[in-house]
Amino acid sequence: MQLTRRTLIAVSLSLTLTLTPSAAVFAASPAPAKGEHGMVVTAQHLASEVGVDVLKKGGNAVDAAVAVGYALAVVYPNAGNIGGGGFMTIRLKDGRSTFLDFRERAPLAATKTMYLDKDGKPVKGASLDGYLAVGVPGSVAGFEMARQKYGTLTRQDLMAPAIAYARDGFVLNQGDAASFAGGAERLAKDPAAAAIFLKKDGKPYGIGEKLAQPDLAASLSAISEKGPDAFYKGAIADAIVKASGAKGGILAKGDFEQYAVRELKPVTCSYRGYEIISSPPPSSGGVIICEILNVLELYPLSYLGAGSAGTVHVMVEAMRYAYVDRNSALGDPDFVDNPVEKLLDKGYAKDIRDKIDPFRAGVSKDLMPKGFGESKETTHYSIIDKDGNAVAVTYTLNGSFGAGVVADGTGILLNNEMDDFTQKPGVPNLYGLVQGEANAIEPKKTPLSSMSPTVVTKDGKPFMVIGSPGGSRIITITLEAIVNVIDHGMNIQEAIDAPRIHHQWLPDTVYVEPFGLSPDTERLLAGMGYHLELADKTWGQAAGILVGGKSLDEIEKGGGARYNGAIDSRAAAGEALGY
Ligand code: GLY
Repeated sequence: MQLTRRTLIAVSLSLTLTLTPSAAVFAASPAPAKGEHGMVVTAQHLASEVGVDVLKKGGNAVDAAVAVGYALAVVYPNAGNIGGGGFMTIRLKDGRSTFLDFRERAPLAATKTMYLDKDGKPVKGASLDGYLAVGVPGSVAGFEMARQKYGTLTRQDLMAPAIAYARDGFVLNQGDAASFAGGAERLAKDPAAAAIFLKKDGKPYGIGEKLAQPDLAASLSAISEKGPDAFYKGAIADAIVKASGAKGGILAKGDFEQYAVRELKPVTCSYRGYEIISSPPPSSGGVIICEILNVLELYPLSYLGAGSAGTVHVMVEAMRYAYVDRNSALGDPDFVDNPVEKLLDKGYAKDIRDKIDPFRAGVSKDLMPKGFGESKETTHYSIIDKDGNAVAVTYTLNGSFGAGVVADGTGILLNNEMDDFTQKPGVPNLYGLVQGEANAIEPKKTPLSSMSPTVVTKDGKPFMVIGSPGGSRIITITLEAIVNVIDHGMNIQEAIDAPRIHHQWLPDTVYVEPFGLSPDTERLLAGMGYHLELADKTWGQAAGILVGGKSLDEIEKGGGARYNGAIDSRAAAGEALGY
């Protein structure tokens, strides 16, 4: 038999059944945090403490998720929010799982061409800056539905820590100060935002300085006392609508009054004996992670090794095909018939594998569908409680500090989520995503997301809780963490810290984190036809939990800590906290 690369992959496939995972793991990371009763992993240390306190008081993982969500809106305002929206994936101790969609909706007055000029060209910044970029926020309604249906504690109990941090202030550490410094220029453009987040001299708050947000404390107190009506039907909505009308936006009272959370069935798929439970449309995340995993399942990644040219090749090709589907076929399920069943089908994955040339890079423009054209600040947190209830939340203002605007007196930063819609088929958005008609703007429609709060189970028990910010890269960040644990044997911290690659069909570029690949691996890939862009910055801030040990090896041997938490080393202000 002639020994081709194709046969080598086939041979590898059989070898992988007898070989243990590659030991050539290069990551060197701190040990994961350990806990026997619960674990909270967030991008801000004070919010992690808030979550653990709720668990210690007897609240469950959903209670902790609600308290953390409100706390992050105060102590991590570049992404934590009540002026944005997000998703919560819940996997309960009895094996049931559900998904809450509290993402933003387009205002009733939104139109398909609202960001185009008279010549049909996108107006620069219109979908990103100021009130026209704002989608109707969903976080407050989402947290309340989560609490009422799946929590056990009162709203007042869960909101008290956030209110205290807003009222009394919190002292910034190095990571906090860095995120405020990053937003200073943007926040300076809106007088109400500048008055909150910048000092009298116009500079951002620094390490050791205290930031109090009295207006936000008042808004949170009103919500705590009166419930979501205080946000959607009271003075807060009035103030936002007034500011929007005065400053070029289209938000109306009806937008707030009609906002409703959707409870949806999560997307599920199997990968090498594990069950993935993740986000359904209006997120593309779960579907696309599953589509990529289905393609990868028959490649021997463990044998090919982490960061090898062989592994990168098949991962990039799977990403290429899956992002074509993401960007052309998916949208809000109330408006679009999403081909979820087809995209999750193992036969469809085989069809994709059959098209992957084992020697050469694919060509993205050859996959153009007919009729076509994150800073990235989002945040993810993962929580598990003593009973094994697992919650993954990803929520966002879209860009860092959202639209950069605060309606006077509310203290609430508003999102710029409208940029996640297709402005015009073929024109890239903030994340370089080139999308189609399925994600066109319509009143009350939700823009397609990549947020992927994910729970992985094994034999009916929670195994991993994982997710990340990162715009269009959320999908590949989450996917790579799962593959790093299951295929490459990394512990949860190593899996999250390991350098990342990303491909999203268009542009036809493989993005590589600093020191992500060795120079000879880069040369091998370039020789196969890949265009690599070696990034000068890292991306993503994954937050993960592994159950039963810090790695598969430890789980299999037994004797590991019950809960093992890891916050991305890229998340300077974050903390994994167990108890
Ligand atoms: N705004 C980022 C996302 O939802 O994918």
